Formats: sequence, C-alpha cells, structure tokens
Amino acid sequence: MARNMKSSTCTAPVNIAVIKYWGKRDEELILPTNSSLSVTLGQDQLRAKTTVAIDPSFTEDRMWLNGKEQSMKSARLRNVLREIRNKVRKRKADDETLSWKVHICSENNFPTAAGLASSAAGYACLVFTLSKLFHVDGDISSIARQGSGSACRSVYGGFVKWVMGTQKDGADSIAVQVAPASHWPELRTLILVVSDQKKHTSSTEGMQTTVNTSQLFPRRLLGMEEKMEQMEKSINEKDFHSFAELTMKDSNQLHSVCLDTYPPISYMKDVSHQIVRMVHCLNSICERNIVAYTFDAGPNACLYLLEKDVPRVLSLVTTFFPPKDNNMEKFIQGLPVDVLPP
Ligand code: PMV
Repeated sequence: MARNMKSSTCTAPVNIAVIKYWGKRDEELILPTNSSLSVTLGQDQLRAKTTVAIDPSFTEDRMWLNGKEQSMKSARLRNVLREIRNKVRKRKADDETLSWKVHICSENNFPTAAGLASSAAGYACLVFTLSKLFHVDGDISSIARQGSGSACRSVYGGFVKWVMGTQKDGADSIAVQVAPASHWPELRTLILVVSDQKKHTSSTEGMQTTVNTSQLFPRRLLGMEEKMEQMEKSINEKDFHSFAELTMKDSNQLHSVCLDTYPPISYMKDVSHQIVRMVHCLNSICERNIVAYTFDAGPNACLYLLEKDVPRVLSLVTTFFPPKDNNMEKFIQGLPVDVLPP
C-alpha cells in the first residue's frame, strides 16, 4: 500500500418502500413529487459493500462495480463526489485530500438492477463510505439522494421516511428515522425472486414518463400525505393488519399508474400476479392480514410478515412456486386455518 493511501470499507443494506417514491419534481437534484417510507433490511441480508481509497498518486477517479470498471461519466456519481468534496472544502478550504483522486470498489450480494433496490444500497453505501473517509459529519442523506432518490432512506436503519420537502434547493428533502428496527423486532421480510434479469425500463425513465403522461398520477399524489400519516401510525402502534393493507394498496397503485403511463410500463409478471393472489387468499381465510406484498420497479416480490407466520407462509410459497397448479385458491380455501402449518 502506498504510504499516504487512506481507505475505508462499509456496507449498507437495501430498503424496500411500503409507501413508494415515484416521480420527480426536479430531475437534477432528485426531488420527489411525494414523501415515501421504507423498511431498511438487516446488514446480513441484501447489501452493498464498498471500499473507497484515496491516494496522491492516483491520476483519475475510477470505479468498479461487481468487478467491472464503470464509466465515471455518470452525472449522479460525479454529483455525489462533488457534494462530499464541497463539505470537506467548507470545513477546511486547503485540505490536502481535496486534490486526491478516489478509487471506488463496490459489490452487491444480490442481482444488480433487477428491481431489488440495488442502487439504493449502492449509493447509500458509497456516500457513507466517502463520509467516513473524508470525516464528513451531519446529514448525508441529501447527498445519497443525489445518487439515487431511494438511497437516502438506506442511510438509516429501521423504519425511515424521506420527507419530500418544499425548498427549491432540496435542503429539506432528507431522510428521517421513524423508528429503529428494535421497535418492531418481529417484523420479517421474504424476498421472492421471480426474475434476476435487468429490468427493461429503469425507474428514472419510468417515473419521468409516468409524470408526463399518466392521468391517474395526479390523483395518486393527492392521497400521499394522508397515507404517510396512516403508515406512520400503523408502525408506531405495530398494527400489522393496517400496515399490510396500506403497503399492498400503495404497491397496487404504483403499478396502476405505471400501466396508465403511455406507452404502458408493466414491471410485474404472471408469477408476480400469482403471488398477489396467494397472499389475498391466505389473508382471506385467516380473516386478517398476516402477510403483505410489495413490488418495486421489477417483478420480484417483497413479503412483509411477522416472525410467527414465516413457517406457514413459506410452506405455501414452496408448495405453489415455481407455479405448477392453477387451483391454488381452491387448495388454500380448502385448508382450515388451524391445519395450515404450523
Ligand atoms: O431511487 P430509484 O430511482 O431507484 O427509484 C426507486 C423507486 C421504487 O423503488 C419503485 C420506489 C421506492 O420508493 O423505492
């Protein structure tokens, strides 16, 4: 290692929104058209791991993602580096590390760009690692936001909201922790990977077309603040039934405005819709919500449920997926609740 080289390595988990962000009011600063709320997964689950090194002998900024060198032309990447360096400059205008180039090495332990929030974990991790290396204090969520909107929420653990803010410069568009993970330790997530292929429409392109063409989209925005309040209440009260209903309805609404986009965007596949049917059928025979689905910009399902219900939901998932029986509802309806394992 070169004598002056400094490096730092950090990990950051994926977050999966229960009230989704979809639409920007400022493309450059990544300011959203609505507030959103998510759950950050544990460090031992889906996560990004990033090492950043700085050294006076490096001649250019470089980056490798999953072992492959990336172009540094990405405006978002450059914005994030510029913001971190601005913070260092504010602290000490002649800090010698300001002129040192960075080498970034990042890897995900799950499929990248398949609708599993890889950019959220990736940018949160990059910004956090840079902040450690350059000793930047204070809120860094607004910097992560400029890498990928949803990344600002992965900066914190547990239940996190991204307040849309009203200021033009985005200073108040930041992430805030609603409750730590320890508030609701029984909550579990199951990720059902329907496809690990790269999605056909990026979320950036998708949300821009939705904002420009969907007639349902303005209607969605009208109800967002009320939904945010209801979701915070259900989390504070650990009311799983209402948490699940709000989560599923918001996912359904997001995918409805995607279909209402012109040309339409459909992220969900047949198997995704079968998962939706399975969840509703199970909740219906249990006469309350014991599991909730949510889908990001891809076909993969994230199921939220309580620890005690994991075995019975998993046993149904493994019975029906990959799909082999079109009598799923009949089968589940035929099971008395008390014989559903366990
Ligand atoms: O942050 P982006 O540009 O990857 O957009 C994320 C959009 C959704 O995942 C669909 C919703 C969300 O709030 O995470």
